[in-house]
Amino acid sequence: MSPILTDSSLDFISHSAEQTTRLGTRLGELLRPGDLICLEGGLGAGKTAMAAGIARGWGAVEPVSSPTFVLVHEHTRLSDSTRLHHVDCYRLSGVDELWTIGFDDIISGRDIVVIEWPERIAEALPGERLWIRIEVIEATRRLLWFEATGDRYRELLEAFRHSLAGGR
Ligand SMILES: Nc1ncnc2c1ncn2[C@@H]1O[C@H](COP(=O)(O)OP(=O)(O)OP(=O)(O)O)[C@@H](O)[C@H]1O
Ligand SMILES: [Mg+2]
Repeated sequence: MSPILTDSSLDFISHSAEQTTRLGTRLGELLRPGDLICLEGGLGAGKTAMAAGIARGWGAVEPVSSPTFVLVHEHTRLSDSTRLHHVDCYRLSGVDELWTIGFDDIISGRDIVVIEWPERIAEALPGERLWIRIEVIEATRRLLWFEATGDRYRELLEAFRHSLAGGR
């Protein structure tokens, strides 16, 4: 066993949409090709606010907008040819409709994938991922809960924890 045992979950209270986006930016800076981030939470919880920060931190050329009328937004960055796919499953009835967005190709492991409403396609998701649940506490307060499954995501969560502790 590894001598370094890391916790596989972390929670955090966000006090504003900007703070949620900033947290996303910190996380986005740490992502590598193949990473999968699932964003669970009710309508208006802050999933897109978090996704926007993730894409910004990763280096997306175009800012993230709400993908409600487009199920997938593909982002590129200048530093390499990796892509980030921002997927919104809200309007998908279930896994049987995933072919309509070319999901097999999206989740192939080459790119970064950020998914809103991942619970709608749970059966189609790899078991290893970083799962983020956003719960509304009050008008501007959110409980953010991060859970890592698999070595890569425990490592990512540990790096995220260090990044937050280090300040900027
Ligand atoms: N602490 C917070 N974190 C995130 N969003 C917040 C927070 N406080 C208030 N908000 C507001 O909540 C809303 C979140 O909207 P956002 O589009 O990110 O939610 P969503 O979870 O993606 O919703 P949908 O299910 O419609 O996709 C925004 O209007 C934002 O300003
Ligand atoms: Mg959204």
